[in-house]
Amino acid sequence: MATVLVTGGAGYIGSHTCVELLNGGFDVVVFDNLCNSHPEALARVQRITGKRLHLIRGDCRDHTALVAALRDSGASAVIHFAGLKAVGESVKQPLAYYDNNVVGTLRLLEAMRECEVPKLVFSSSATVYGDPKWLPLTENHPLSATNPYGQSKLMVEEILRDLQRSDASWHLGGASRCVLCRCRSRAGTPGSRPAEPRSVGWRCGTWQASRVMGAARPPTRHYARDRMTTETGLPEPLPTGYRCSDRYVIEAELAPQSMGRAYKASDTALHEVVAIIVLAPALRDQDGVMRFRLSFKKARSTHPDAVHDYGEHRGVPYITVKYVEGLGAAVDVGKAS
Ligand SMILES: NC(=O)c1ccc[n+]([C@@H]2O[C@H](COP(=O)([O-])OP(=O)(O)OC[C@H]3O[C@@H](n4cnc5c(N)ncnc54)[C@H](O)[C@@H]3O)[C@@H](O)[C@H]2O)c1
Repeated sequence: MATVLVTGGAGYIGSHTCVELLNGGFDVVVFDNLCNSHPEALARVQRITGKRLHLIRGDCRDHTALVAALRDSGASAVIHFAGLKAVGESVKQPLAYYDNNVVGTLRLLEAMRECEVPKLVFSSSATVYGDPKWLPLTENHPLSATNPYGQSKLMVEEILRDLQRSDASWHLGGASRCVLCRCRSRAGTPGSRPAEPRSVGWRCGTWQASRVMGAARPPTRHYARDRMTTETGLPEPLPTGYRCSDRYVIEAELAPQSMGRAYKASDTALHEVVAIIVLAPALRDQDGVMRFRLSFKKARSTHPDAVHDYGEHRGVPYITVKYVEGLGAAVDVGKAS
């Protein structure tokens, strides 16, 4: 079976892609420096698929390591996810972004040429469309960039176009062997739940996908600690410490007596701030899970764009809702009865 080298395969989109590749019968070798991921994501990929993959810890700017990875794995194609991706950070650190995203891709392409592996899927970005001139975006929309991150993606796209023009091995029977994938809304469902159908403008579609990434990024305590402030606008936060759930770092102890109160929390998978509203423990105690779920459904039907998730933290049920800076939780679900 063909082997695919997945750069950045331990990351958010990469780990989901690994699931699909393994389920599709491919052998997978991940090449990742783990600068924004954790090997646990790959352990989880293996648990989900029941198949094994191989991780090579390496940096895409390391030509020698890439050549060795391609030769040793016998990969016949590469999917290239490795890169830095935060727009704001790219404005502050443009050199780091050009170095990682552009130089990293150049080194990869050189290694692919040396190893005669001219088959690539590049994870570009919808940021290459710049400020939209029309919506929805179509592939013939003019390309431009409004920040160094987008610029780095655009540069790589241009490099790939030039490479294809110059080298016939990047074509097969007239078809391109290089695919640009301009993602915008990332989503995935390697778990058992169906995809979340609503889009609420803050990457809601990803909340299912983040079940995998919950493991990819172990609870980032510092992230929560840094943001444990009182400027949240949330009613009476109780910063008595924090607890880590599977996915959220909750910045205050959830207590049954805090029913109806909202707490600011960090979504460790999405690196988003959310608000968690504590529900009546009775929802748990009396009729068990059923009333708890009904309460979630009711809140969800009233606030389809803002109520996201539900969970339980040490026996205290809660609903996760959209958080709006300065306004606190975007939804008042009251006692959610
Ligand atoms: N997530 C999105 O919504 C989105 C949207 C558009 C495009 N993209 C692009 O898709 C790709 C993957 O995005 P993601 O959300 O999975 O990001 P991610 O940060 O979760 O994954 C990126 C992975 O690349 C690795 N990496 C970074 N630099 C590396 C290097 N020099 N060498 C080796 N490994 C390196 C990181 O450790 C991480 O595992 C990125 O290139 C990103 O720009 C993502």
